Amino acid sequence: MRLNWLKLTNFRNYQNLRVNFARKNILLLGNNAVGKTNLLEGIYLLAFGKSFKAETTAQMILWGKDFAVVEGEVESKREKITLLMQLKKEKQGKTSKQFFVNGVQKPRKEFLQTFFALIFRPEDIRLLSGSPQRRRCWLNEVLEVLDWRYRQSLRLYHKALVQRNRLLDLIRENKASRRELFYWDNALVKNGQYLIEERKKLVGFINLFFQNAAHQFLRQLKVNYLPSSITLEKLQRSQPADIQNGWTGCGPHRDVLTVEGENFAAADKNIAFWGSRGQQRLAVLGLKLAQAAFLFEKTKTKPVLLLDDIFSELDQSQQELLKETFVSHQVIVTATEMPSGEKQFWEKVIFLPSGS
Ligand SMILES: Nc1ncnc2c1ncn2[C@@H]1O[C@H](COP(=O)(O)OP(=O)(O)O)[C@@H](O)[C@H]1O
Ligand SMILES: [Mg+2]
Repeated sequence: MRLNWLKLTNFRNYQNLRVNFARKNILLLGNNAVGKTNLLEGIYLLAFGKSFKAETTAQMILWGKDFAVVEGEVESKREKITLLMQLKKEKQGKTSKQFFVNGVQKPRKEFLQTFFALIFRPEDIRLLSGSPQRRRCWLNEVLEVLDWRYRQSLRLYHKALVQRNRLLDLIRENKASRRELFYWDNALVKNGQYLIEERKKLVGFINLFFQNAAHQFLRQLKVNYLPSSITLEKLQRSQPADIQNGWTGCGPHRDVLTVEGENFAAADKNIAFWGSRGQQRLAVLGLKLAQAAFLFEKTKTKPVLLLDDIFSELDQSQQELLKETFVSHQVIVTATEMPSGEKQFWEKVIFLPSGS
């Protein structure tokens, strides 16, 4: 799968920009703050329908404007498709997002079926060293773009969790009865079990991917997934404690995921504790490559890899590992200067001038 061109209108710092990619290995060069990450955010939007960094839709619209458009042509198996996303400021501070495929407005669900990509940013190292919440979010990011039911379950699960926790407070204050919990308990169990099932399958896939990896360091990685299983009986049992605490003690919002290095001699093989920064970065790269393989397995098309400011941080062997992947994927890499190594490797170098 590849992205042929991208057009940004009033998106972030770009009033009007058109970039032709049409090659496989693309290097985007530009000084700090010229808008390299913003450009990748635009591409990401076409794949995920949402941003990896904006907290609100309005943030992505050029200051002083009331709409933004991101448009791109993607090509897969010789079929060309134009994707367009429009972000609009509506009345009373609200914003809306509209999705178009080949000029026809579509629900987000259908829009997401067309273009697949993934991003690797320097911040992603926190996937290992950060809180468990970060790793759960990543599992969600991998799964929800492929599986609409997962997305629905996630939304309904979180809604039920908020409602149940609110109710727990009211019960503690004698303002509601325990019987009212039943409805939310059912919603949590039904949706929560689906989330756990799918997360288990994904982790199984990742571990197989690691076992079969050509790279020796990746071969000894293992993802350890400890789901916080959820059933009506378990919720029933934890009810008194939950009422005391005002929050729900079991369920996939409490899932724990660690990445272990089998070669570490310590009892606890968690890479977050024992791995050097370089090893941690490599492990995150491994997770991203596993994500790419998972996307390929599910869609039969190779996702576009977006690497933001990460390439020059990788050492020689890590760059080699990535280049092996480059063989079969389109890769769009940003950097402030030309990375060392063979220059001819880059099929296209695009300079983003300041003030574009
Ligand atoms: N909505 C917006 N409108 C105009 N400019 C924006 C908007 N959001 C961010 N910017 C500007 O974009 C620039 C940062 O772009 P970024 O893509 O992070 O740069 P780079 O990755 O090249 O360092 C900043 O100068 C910021 O002020
Ligand atoms: Mg940047």
